[in-house]
Amino acid sequence: MAKNHAVGGHEKIETSNFLMIVLILLTVAVGGLVEIVPLFFQRSTTQPLEGVKPYTALQLAGRDIYQREGCYGCHSQMVRPFRSETLRYGHYSMAGEFVYDHPFQWGSKRTGPDLHRVGGRYSDEWHRIHLNNPRDLVPESNMPAYPWLARNAVDAEGLAPRMKALRTIGVPYSDEEISKSAEDVKGKSELDAVVAYLQVLGTAVK
Ligand code: HEC
Repeated sequence: MAKNHAVGGHEKIETSNFLMIVLILLTVAVGGLVEIVPLFFQRSTTQPLEGVKPYTALQLAGRDIYQREGCYGCHSQMVRPFRSETLRYGHYSMAGEFVYDHPFQWGSKRTGPDLHRVGGRYSDEWHRIHLNNPRDLVPESNMPAYPWLARNAVDAEGLAPRMKALRTIGVPYSDEEISKSAEDVKGKSELDAVVAYLQVLGTAVK
């Protein structure tokens, strides 16, 4: 039987490691570019959703403490578009809600619940008691206690440089917001900051 041309060409590829590697890399690269590059130019992924504002100085301080304490190790901030998730947490997360989050805290590990829509769900007082010792409110909780947050003052002087750094990557802080950041957090504890941060999470979407 005469050899089929197409099959012959394929055999050449399958029997050459070099050709196989080069062609696989090429295919993956093209596939990746087609999926990833448009995300940098789409309005829905690059523009803030209506109502999304940059974090205030106090909220930003809270966000940094959230990262320092490794809260992301147990909590995601990404409600997926599935019924089981939206029934439990609320509206699924949208890209435009995270444009001022550098780095974002989506995560994937959920030892505790997702926190993206936790803003406004509990009172400030609930969060204070809970962060000081979760077992006071949820007896079976295995979340660590963070009693030092109430004792530590917010690092006020560190905020202006951090806000300036965020501005260079597109967060629209004004000179005035930056210059009065230290004053804004005067007398505030780290606990105040974390609670302020938690209370704004996911609240741009009603
Ligand atoms: C070792 C894992 C772990 C770490 C680390 C952790 N948590 Fe939790 N978190 C949990 C668990 C489990 C729950 C559910 C039980 C409860 O409410 O205490 C929870 C619940 C919560 C809730 C209530 C959520 C809801 O919808 O009821 C908030 C808010 C919260 N955590 C914030 C934080 C913050 C802020 C930090 C970091 C300072 C943190 N957690 C660190 C495990 C963790």
